[in-house]
Amino acid sequence: MEPASSAPGARLVKVKGPGPVPVCLRVNDRLYCLPLEPRCSLLDALRQHLGLTGAKRVCNMGECGACTVLLDGRPINACITLAVECDGRSITTIEGIATDGHLDPLQEAFILCDAVQCGFCTPGQIMAARALLARNPNPSEEQIRRAMAGNLCRCGTYNQIVQAVRRACQDSDVPSAGRSRPDAVARRGR
Ligand code: FES
Ligand code: FES
Repeated sequence: MEPASSAPGARLVKVKGPGPVPVCLRVNDRLYCLPLEPRCSLLDALRQHLGLTGAKRVCNMGECGACTVLLDGRPINACITLAVECDGRSITTIEGIATDGHLDPLQEAFILCDAVQCGFCTPGQIMAARALLARNPNPSEEQIRRAMAGNLCRCGTYNQIVQAVRRACQDSDVPSAGRSRPDAVARRGR
């Protein structure tokens, strides 16, 4: 029988591995090139190889959203994404959203609205909210709930999370990335 690769119309698929292969990831605007086994998830690459432990491993099967990061600006579950798929692409994690030492407005809003209990889901919630606000700067409550339906919170802080997202885009009390956190806390006391 004719080998599949020489059959008319067949495409040669380049197989990577099984040993480590070079993978270059641009994470939070910094380029990292490292040898990774093709089976290595993006979450493992971030947490175990780069020491970026903000994205959390909870279900490890794409169900809870705790591992949400942005891949070329779009939210993905890093636990079910292979690092090799992200070769040459841009990844943003919770560690990369503060500016010049100042928290992102969403981070500020989560604090001000008490949207954090155990905090395990929080990095994923904030990254999902960032992706939402990037495409819709003033979402309704329903749009927030829909967009973040894939991010579960076992502590049940859903109402505060929605409040925080609305506050981040609507409330002038939430500082821009250029203002300091002590400034925000002082204004909260007004
Ligand atoms: S840990 Fe990735 S979706 Fe739950
Ligand atoms: S704050 Fe505990 S899981 Fe969401």
